[in-house]
Amino acid sequence: MTSERKTAIVTGGLSGMGLAIARRLAKDGINVFVGTRRAGDKAYVRDVLGADAVRIQAAALDVQTRDSVDAFVARIVAECGGVDILVNAAGVYEEAALIDHPDQIWEDQIDINLSGTFRMIRAVMPHMTKAGWGRIINIASVAAHNGMANNAAYCASKAGLLGLGRCVSLEGAANGVTCVSISPTWVETEMLRRFIDADINATGQTLEQVRAEYAKSNPQNQLVQPVEVAELAAFLASDAARALTMADYQINAGSLW
Ligand SMILES: NC(=O)c1ccc[n+]([C@@H]2O[C@H](COP(=O)([O-])OP(=O)(O)OC[C@H]3O[C@@H](n4cnc5c(N)ncnc54)[C@H](OP(=O)(O)O)[C@@H]3O)[C@@H](O)[C@H]2O)c1
Repeated sequence: MTSERKTAIVTGGLSGMGLAIARRLAKDGINVFVGTRRAGDKAYVRDVLGADAVRIQAAALDVQTRDSVDAFVARIVAECGGVDILVNAAGVYEEAALIDHPDQIWEDQIDINLSGTFRMIRAVMPHMTKAGWGRIINIASVAAHNGMANNAAYCASKAGLLGLGRCVSLEGAANGVTCVSISPTWVETEMLRRFIDADINATGQTLEQVRAEYAKSNPQNQLVQPVEVAELAAFLASDAARALTMADYQINAGSLW
């Protein structure tokens, strides 16, 4: 480890699962830095973090560009001496049929979900390797394991994370660096809320009705909550998870998707 107090980066850490993970790690006394594109907006950050702003620092990060990623990591390394934990939760989701599939939808999902994760890992790897300790956790999806019509780009980006993670695990193994992924089914986050709102507009159903439809998509009939993902992430980031690497952990509530 680089210091007594561990340092964590959580991409996408101002909403949904990333935010829940950032809060959970901060509760463990970890020094947490979150990065998203909107994190440069001070009012937005204040709104989101509230009292947690004393324990979680936010700065603008766009995982689509190497300059932004490298500068973000370099600033944290200069301040804290290293990075112990990286959680890649930044992601986007957009559906499109293969026929006439817009290039932009393909490129954005591959570039943010997969290449963005790669850029973050590349930036932190030298510091974790040097410290002889590191935890890398990628938020994949059940879409990494299963297909769904109109989801080629998203499924490809998430399946790619499993291949990337296996290689990172092997390269990090001798230096105490683990790499795992978490693959949830639908989780009740802002991302899901956008789909719920679209369904409300399209069908005229109430929020409760549409929410119930999504809950029914898993046999437990209960939407997974971001804090449930955060609990697993906190364990995977701990010393106790030393031998947990090259693996993907599904939080699927019994659902294939
Ligand atoms: N919700 C689900 O049902 C579900 C299920 C399985 C897997 N997942 C995956 O879990 C991860 C988290 O999803 P969520 O549901 O928590 O979504 P969310 O609430 O929409 O959060 C996604 C975050 O990613 C950030 N982001 C997007 N593009 C970025 C970029 N180029 N650079 C830096 N940050 C970027 C967003 O912030 P800015 O817009 O400010 O950049 C936002 O904070 C995603 O990878 C998603 O694919 C979600």
